[in-house]
Amino acid sequence: MNVDFHCHILPKFDDGSESCEMSLEMLRREMANGVSRVVLTPHFYRSREDQRSFLIRRQASFDRLRRAMDEDGGVFPELRLGAEVAMTKELRFEDLSRLCIQGTNTLLLELPFQPMGSWFGDVRAIIERNTEKVVLAHVERFRDCLDKKAHAQVMELPCLKQINTSSVIEDGFFRRRQLLKWVENGDVHILGTDAHNLTSRPVNMKVAVNILLEKGYAAEVKEMMERAVSLS
Ligand SMILES: [Fe+2]
Repeated sequence: MNVDFHCHILPKFDDGSESCEMSLEMLRREMANGVSRVVLTPHFYRSREDQRSFLIRRQASFDRLRRAMDEDGGVFPELRLGAEVAMTKELRFEDLSRLCIQGTNTLLLELPFQPMGSWFGDVRAIIERNTEKVVLAHVERFRDCLDKKAHAQVMELPCLKQINTSSVIEDGFFRRRQLLKWVENGDVHILGTDAHNLTSRPVNMKVAVNILLEKGYAAEVKEMMERAVSLS
């Protein structure tokens, strides 16, 4: 089973899908991409909102989507409700269980887009308390804001790491070569589209999976998908 572990398909929630119609079309595209389970991971920013308010808003958006799916009557992927939790200082001292993918202790955590700083120790503390199974969202994107040494430290954190399909598809030669090395070495563990819409950040699982298969990573893709199933 193919799983999209990271996307912004919930309607009118964050900077992702702008309407129920767009969400339905994104879900149809997931199906067309061979994805049969989608983890919905809207942005959670603790600096802007507390957990309670986020969860109420998320449920309302999810209910709207469910109604639209029922009315449409089409065939859609299984849905799982989660969050992309932006790392902030206070998270270290909070119970994060309700931000995990529902029914699991899997937490999709987004690092700050900032140079190395005190946040690194906070992330490590969350990982090491072992209450949640932490998955770092699109770990490859932090090559943009961290120097080589700092990014290597992130890659060494004892947790799971997700990469975006768009990076597999669009990264330049050297960055993609590094990405493929990580796939080959088992340094990255899960694929997600991080889809936000139908155009600039679309559902594109199939193209990325096909690239990985062409490069000879069939076993790695299978393992990543199986892992995504068990974590969601
Ligand atoms: Fe995201």
